Amino acid sequence: MNILAELRSRFRKALTTLDPSAAEFAEMVLPSQDAKFGDYQANCAMPLGKRLGNPPREIAKRLVELLNLGDLCDPPEIAGPGFINLRLNNDFLVSQLQAMVANDSLGVAPVSEPKTIVLDYSAPNVAKPMHVGHIRSTVIGAALYRVLTALGHRVISDNHIGDWGTQFGMIIYGYKHLVDEPAFAKEPVAELSRLYRMVNQLVEYHDIKENKLPAVEKRIIDAAHQVEHLHDATELEDPKARKAHNRQLQQAENQLAQTREMLDDLRRKLAAVDDDAHLSALAAEHVDIGTAVLAETAALHAGDAENRSLWEQFLPACLASMDAIYQRLNVTFDNTLGESFYHDRLAGVVDDLDQRGLATDSEGARCVFIEGIDAPFIVQKQDGAFLYATTDLATIQYRVNEWTPDAIVYVVDHRQSLHFEQLFATARLWGYDQIGLEHVSFGTVLGEDGKPYKTRSGTAVGLEGLLDEAIERALAIVSANDDARDEPLLSSEERKQVGERVGIGAIKYADLAHNRTSDYVFSYDKMLAMQGNTAAYMQYSYARVRSIFAKGNVDLDQLRQHASQLQINEPAERALGLALLQLSEALERVAGDYRPNHLTAYLFDVASKYSAFFENCPVLKAENDNLRTSRLLLCDLTARTIAYGLELLGIQVVERM
Ligand code: ARG
Repeated sequence: MNILAELRSRFRKALTTLDPSAAEFAEMVLPSQDAKFGDYQANCAMPLGKRLGNPPREIAKRLVELLNLGDLCDPPEIAGPGFINLRLNNDFLVSQLQAMVANDSLGVAPVSEPKTIVLDYSAPNVAKPMHVGHIRSTVIGAALYRVLTALGHRVISDNHIGDWGTQFGMIIYGYKHLVDEPAFAKEPVAELSRLYRMVNQLVEYHDIKENKLPAVEKRIIDAAHQVEHLHDATELEDPKARKAHNRQLQQAENQLAQTREMLDDLRRKLAAVDDDAHLSALAAEHVDIGTAVLAETAALHAGDAENRSLWEQFLPACLASMDAIYQRLNVTFDNTLGESFYHDRLAGVVDDLDQRGLATDSEGARCVFIEGIDAPFIVQKQDGAFLYATTDLATIQYRVNEWTPDAIVYVVDHRQSLHFEQLFATARLWGYDQIGLEHVSFGTVLGEDGKPYKTRSGTAVGLEGLLDEAIERALAIVSANDDARDEPLLSSEERKQVGERVGIGAIKYADLAHNRTSDYVFSYDKMLAMQGNTAAYMQYSYARVRSIFAKGNVDLDQLRQHASQLQINEPAERALGLALLQLSEALERVAGDYRPNHLTAYLFDVASKYSAFFENCPVLKAENDNLRTSRLLLCDLTARTIAYGLELLGIQVVERM
């Protein structure tokens, strides 16, 4: 049962009796921040009082009279200006916990109105090395998939891989001109990613030299003039004007500094090629590489036989290396319909937009202009090429025809916000206005230096290396902890398995526990810490509970037969029991705004309440057998809740660590 939802529904009835339009205020019933205000608190009397022109305390009183909560709560208390404090009664808590013992889904009830939701996540550009941001999309998306499914929704995952873009033009060009045949024969994917990196670097080199560098140099001159000009401005008497002037100067100086940094960055990139004899020779030889790569891509799209056959040869190898990562992360997809799947539908999309008068000509390109957004949404370039935007429109059309979803949810990093804003607006104009379109965006993964995290460049390891390192470090920590015991517990086999689960778990949990919209710093030390809101701590908490069963020789099947003995006496038991009953609420919160960190926060809360319980309430040494059974039942529910919650997050538990 979702207790919060139940309370809200009871409040909704009482509220609408007072005022038929007051249903929305039921959302103001919330879990209390502080146990001294009860378990839940309702603040709705204040706004309703205002609306009805009555003192809030009076409204609160009438609400309490109308509310029918006797089976759930002690008599509600009215506090302060009109807060209604609710404390669940112990009989109710106990009966719910007892019912939970026999319930496989731990009391998580399916939603009353299941939805069909297409989840678009992971979606790397194949043939390009995957980066840390792809783990984020993959891990968050996979967690949302499981949580939404657990709540009874019909969820369809679709991995919209980039398998048709310029990166293929790059590797085709690279393969034709720069391939190392023996290396390709031995390890095609590694060679292709080397080619991708090299061609990309050469394209960028020429682009910087011809376009970017001159542009930035010009901006520096302008910015420097601006600063100079502001410095020269006459002394200002008026303090307000002086302040404004100083602020302007400060801004101009910042601007100048930033532009200089950009310039340095560009120069570093040039130097990386210039200082390398081999690369600089290549750069001199392949002057028109930028145009040539675009031509290779265009030829592929136009059906050129040679390029098409190279693409068909490269793609399976790229997909296999991508799958290797998914296997390690234990992620699967219902569908993998990449960009290439849509290529022959793109002309139709543009035609259709044309026919409906939605596309406009702008300097030879076909664009959709959207009210309130300056940048046009380009669906076909001057040269006839279709874009990422066109493909995404075709994808919406396909998904709607195929699955008639209520919502399509995209887990993609925040830099694509504008794209999705334009895409959704265009889709609505195009007629898809009944479907929830949602960009679940996330921030950047930063290195300890505060800059976007880079996996050690120059090697082909990339993400694999990242996972390896996490596992290696986890293994070292687990082994050291075990060695520190009087008698080590774990065999080397077991250590290996624990290291694997703790290492991968750490990376996933760190991604999930941070509020997805903020950037976060990738730190092995932090994510592998045994204390705090980490996977290792959660896994340890689970193992700690399980060790009690081992120590007490507890037969869990038998224990669960005695659910009726579960009772609540001590405050620490009550706090733990209440937390255990709030899993549904945590999952609904995750589904509400697509933020898995609600679930990590919940699990951390359960683990903390368990710690307090464990300190205050002897389990195996409880005063009598009934109490022992009752407490063991609470332990069992705790272990199951942690394991289930972690499973929804894609993290495996361990029996001992
Ligand atoms: N392949 C894109 C990238 O790596 C992400 C695709 C996200 N999904 C979508 N339907 N646009 O940036």
